[in-house]
Amino acid sequence: MYKLDDLKNSKGVALYNRAKSLIPGGTQLLSKRPEMFAPDVWPSYYSKAKGCRVWDLDGREFIDMSIMAVGACILGYADDEVDDAVVQALRSGVNSSLNCPEEVELAEALIELHPWFGMVRYARSGGEAMGLAVRIARAHTKRDTVLFSGYHGWNDWYLAANLSDGTGLDGQLMPGLEPNGVPRGLTGTAIPFDANNIESLREKVKGQENKIAAIIIEPARGEDAPAGYLKALRELATEIGAVLLFDEITSGFRMCAGGIHRNYGVYPDIAVFAKSMANGYAMSAILGTEKVMQAAQTTFISSTNWTDRVGPVAALATLKKYQRESVDQHIIATGKQVKDIWQRSAQATGLDLNVTGLPSLAAFSFKARHPMGMNTRFTIEMLKEGFLGFRQFKPSLAHHDDVLALYEIAVERVFAKLATDLECNELDTPKHHAGFQRLTKE
Ligand SMILES: Cc1ncc(COP(=O)(O)O)c(C=O)c1O
Repeated sequence: MYKLDDLKNSKGVALYNRAKSLIPGGTQLLSKRPEMFAPDVWPSYYSKAKGCRVWDLDGREFIDMSIMAVGACILGYADDEVDDAVVQALRSGVNSSLNCPEEVELAEALIELHPWFGMVRYARSGGEAMGLAVRIARAHTKRDTVLFSGYHGWNDWYLAANLSDGTGLDGQLMPGLEPNGVPRGLTGTAIPFDANNIESLREKVKGQENKIAAIIIEPARGEDAPAGYLKALRELATEIGAVLLFDEITSGFRMCAGGIHRNYGVYPDIAVFAKSMANGYAMSAILGTEKVMQAAQTTFISSTNWTDRVGPVAALATLKKYQRESVDQHIIATGKQVKDIWQRSAQATGLDLNVTGLPSLAAFSFKARHPMGMNTRFTIEMLKEGFLGFRQFKPSLAHHDDVLALYEIAVERVFAKLATDLECNELDTPKHHAGFQRLTKE
């Protein structure tokens, strides 16, 4: 459908080369760097996005079967209902000397979904909200150390884990993060432990019980936590007087409205949401028990842009549509279908594939000698077929059966090509990056 040379010579690829000399790291988000997909080929920029489709700067149309704005656009791009609510809010003033009433309405709606919480604060991005949550936990307990597993954003509190020997975060989804600029004085304040391993946690807690402010995890990443794990964490946190903090920035709204912990019946002291809660508009929320959240008043947490009206209005409209349309059921079913497509296509073409992940956070990996080359080539061949294709898929309400049928045809065709080039000899552009790397100026 699209020719490789045209993709390589696109306006987007040229613009990104300019961006790298103007914006350190090229983009504001590691996961949107073209290097993460297919360097020198990925379209990089969009002119328009609607439903599950995006148009690049040359007007080429692609069906997005990849990360859907890193999971933010759970209803699909430019959802009319959410956008209409936002436009109405814009027309009646996005900010003023007074506060917007929607932030109270949203707090009530979020607490109705999670009645074990009593209070809510807002920010506008995930990492920022995690910074607030950790501050609140430290203020509440009057302790400094946090124990965590998983990825939790760019903040000092988190990168501090890499101050001691530079490898603390390597086992936590994002290897290679450098803590330059994080005060050395924070060394030892953030200690990683292995996800889903209560014994690893107990080891780290031993002798430090009265120093630990919070135990921080993603309640699910990839797969459900093993039976009993979350309950054991809850008990341990209560026993040592630490705040149990669930980062639901990715898991939230994926398997049910609100936190995935609703499904597990284990209740943290704080849960943090961002991403899908406002269908791509900047919004994040920290929900907590009244006792813990009151500590926000004993420290200083305050910002002008946290009072804008767009975020709460978008979140309320997203939540309303999410519940009315049972979006959880739709994305779970769609993710399952896509996992089946990957399996069927692999079987039909003789490729060896690992298919993993919760259905609404589906992923695959090639079991091959050159997985990175194959990933890159998969993405390039899918672009040629008219898809943003990746080894992860985050379904949205806008993905329907007609799109999946087209996707299956394309995946099978692309897998068949990969099966005849397992050494990746036909890949003539660089392989994708696997994690954080510094970019050099062209
Ligand atoms: C679990 C988790 N925590 C924190 C973050 C950081 O959120 P943001 O990118 O909005 O700062 C992410 C983003 O991928 C995430 O998945």
